[in-house]
Amino acid sequence: MKILILYFSGTGNTKFIANKIATKLERKGHHVTPASVENVEPEEASSYDFLVFGYPIYGYDMPKFLKGYLERLSLPSSRGGAVYDTMGYDGGNSLRVTAEKLIEKGFVVVGTAEFKMPGNDGLAITDWKSKTAQQVLSTDYGRSQEIREGVERLVDQIDAGVDRVIKQSEGNPPKRKFIYRLLTPATKLLFDIFERVFTGKFRADESCIGCGLCERICPADNIVVHGTEVEFGDDCYFCLRCLHQCPVEAIQITRFTEGKFRYRGPTGNYVPAPLVGEGREDSGSA
Ligand SMILES: Cc1cc2nc3c(=O)[nH]c(=O)nc-3n(C[C@H](O)[C@H](O)[C@H](O)COP(=O)(O)O)c2cc1C
Ligand code: SF4
Ligand code: SF4
Repeated sequence: MKILILYFSGTGNTKFIANKIATKLERKGHHVTPASVENVEPEEASSYDFLVFGYPIYGYDMPKFLKGYLERLSLPSSRGGAVYDTMGYDGGNSLRVTAEKLIEKGFVVVGTAEFKMPGNDGLAITDWKSKTAQQVLSTDYGRSQEIREGVERLVDQIDAGVDRVIKQSEGNPPKRKFIYRLLTPATKLLFDIFERVFTGKFRADESCIGCGLCERICPADNIVVHGTEVEFGDDCYFCLRCLHQCPVEAIQITRFTEGKFRYRGPTGNYVPAPLVGEGREDSGSA
């Protein structure tokens, strides 16, 4: 059974969990490939026997560009799947909604999980000296009991589900919570406005050294660097990868991010997925 863990990770949290799931599934004897959506065409994803799909929560939802990606997944026959998200504080009904989307696509969803991780949005406007920032820097997420138990639960669900997916007619996504039926539309509306306003405000300040990293790692191909001039286009996923990864912290979204915390993933050394053909090394931060 070939298992694909397909994830998107702007700043490392979702990838960190993907690697944890992969390690545990491999220990149970499965053949597992963790890969970023940046490097896997939907057609290729459909060729695996079992799919684990992971994404970060943006405004109680999955990142918009991933919806288009999921739409393009087409299965030649029903197969097993599991879904997880990572979030900073609250994921709303997103896990359920995504599980239903996968079921509609022909997946039998046998497992779901949600992981609370550092919120890369709030951290971008948090002081380095604050308790929150210091806590993030001093926490070993690899040893977090909550994360370990969540990964183990999901891996057990997948391990048990892998053999019975062919027979099972429906999975076990969490129930929708009524409160989110009210909160989600309002949150989404606010988030859409927030996104429209702030994705137009990305800029590199005078400390830019023209290294070109932001252009190379932007998953949306939304950045062009000429010398120390950095141009941001209109197709931003709002993943905050460029802002958190810039080596001299030159990328700002308004003055509120100036001098504020930069998040380099749960182990502090997150390297975004290498783009196909570029051969950059991926430290994995497992
Ligand atoms: C644009 C944006 C919106 C976000 N919205 C939410 C949210 O609604 N709820 C939440 O709990 N976390 C939210 N977050 C925090 C991320 O979901 C969280 O940090 C996630 O683990 C990031 O994963 P990554 O490091 O793999 O990109 C948001 C982050 C961004 C960048
Ligand atoms: S990553 Fe930072 S320093 Fe490098 S080109 Fe982009 S803005 Fe400039
Ligand atoms: S411009 Fe920055 S925030 Fe927008 S998609 Fe690219 S890396 Fe992500």
